[in-house]
This record gives sequence, C-alpha cells and structure tokens, in this order.
Amino acid sequence: MKFFVDTADTAAIAELNDLGMVDGVTTNPSIIMKSGRDIREVTKEICDMIDGPVSAETVALDAEGMIAEGRELAKIADNITIKVPLTWDGLKACRVLSGEGRMVNVTLCFSANQALLAAKAGATFISPFIGRLDDINLDGMDLIADIRQIYDNYGFETQILAASIRSVNHMTEAAKIGADVATAPPDVIRKMAQHVLTDKGLEGFLKDWAKTGQKIL
Ligand code: G3P
Repeated sequence: MKFFVDTADTAAIAELNDLGMVDGVTTNPSIIMKSGRDIREVTKEICDMIDGPVSAETVALDAEGMIAEGRELAKIADNITIKVPLTWDGLKACRVLSGEGRMVNVTLCFSANQALLAAKAGATFISPFIGRLDDINLDGMDLIADIRQIYDNYGFETQILAASIRSVNHMTEAAKIGADVATAPPDVIRKMAQHVLTDKGLEGFLKDWAKTGQKIL
C-alpha cells in the first residue's frame, strides 16, 4: 500500500519523506487554509520535495471552472494531481482533464456507485472518505471493500485512495482490504510505530543492560 501524507505541513512531510514513508501528498482547501500559506507557493514547495503525486484541489462548482482551475494548478509542477469533487460536473471535468493525460483525484466519495462513475470517467485516484462515514455511524471500511470488489470485477485501473483516515486501525484495515493508497495525517503514520509491548520490552532490556555495566560505544 502506498502512503500519501494528508497535509501541507512541509516539515512533517520532509521528516516522513526522509524515512521513505511518503509516496505522495494530498491537500484540500481546508488543509491549505490551516497551513496559512499561498496555495501555489506551498504546493510548489511540496512538489519539489517529493517524487510522487501531489493533489491540489479545484474550488469551482461547474465543470468549465474546474477544468480551467485544474489546468492552472497543473502548471505548478509535473507531479500535480488535480483534485475534483464527486459531482456530475466533477465527473465531466475528470473526463476532460484525464483525457489530456493529467492525473485526476476524484474526492468526497461516499458510495460505491460514485466510485464506479469516477472509474468510468477515467479517474487516476478515487478518494472514499472513511472517517466521515464513521462519523455518521456507518462503516467507512465497508465502502473501501465494496469499491475494491467492484474495481477488481471489471479490471478498472483507478487507484483506491483511502482518505479521511483518523486512526492506526484505519491504516491496518485499508491495507488488509487492499486499498492501493492510504492518505493519512502525519501523526497517524507516526503512531503506527507505537506498541505498548515494544516500550515495555525496551524498558526491561535497558534495565538488564545497566546491570552488566558494559558499553557499546
Ligand atoms: O483526505 C481527506 C481528508 O483531508 C479529510 O479528512 O478528517 O477532515 O475527514 P477529515
């Protein structure tokens, strides 16, 4: 499973990238707002830092506007992925932009039918939002599993990009189901390294080591 980082925090991206944990980056208007930075400036900085796709989202509601904004965002760097919402106009924009050979991430997906349409429209990535489905008492992971099955049934090449990931369990489940990509906040990726038995084991080893009076360096 590829790891994308769902942030515009360049320091966090750099730290994870040095560890080989970053296959791509996703942003959205809320993430850009939180960064407090200019979308072109911060997106360009991220694109220069990593080799993989960097999603930048359009904000127009009509297809024409999304296409124009998408072409503009694509000028930032070669690894820009244009993010459009899963609306009828978003699907039209996806069709046109992907037809031009651009990477397109169709976002705000909450049903298997929406994902089916995005694949037909030529999306590079489909972004089902797990956490937001969990928020309304549905199981976001069921959606990932349904899309996996449908895409596999017909050999669609659109990559499932599990999004709105809030916990380490989401990461495990997405990987078990076979999501192609998971995009997560940096903290969730860091927490994947934590285990109480690792901490306990380390404490025990260090206590015993101190008793030996030895040094390695
Ligand atoms: O990847 C989509 C993400 O940015 C939305 O996450 O936590 O706001 O639902 P969240």
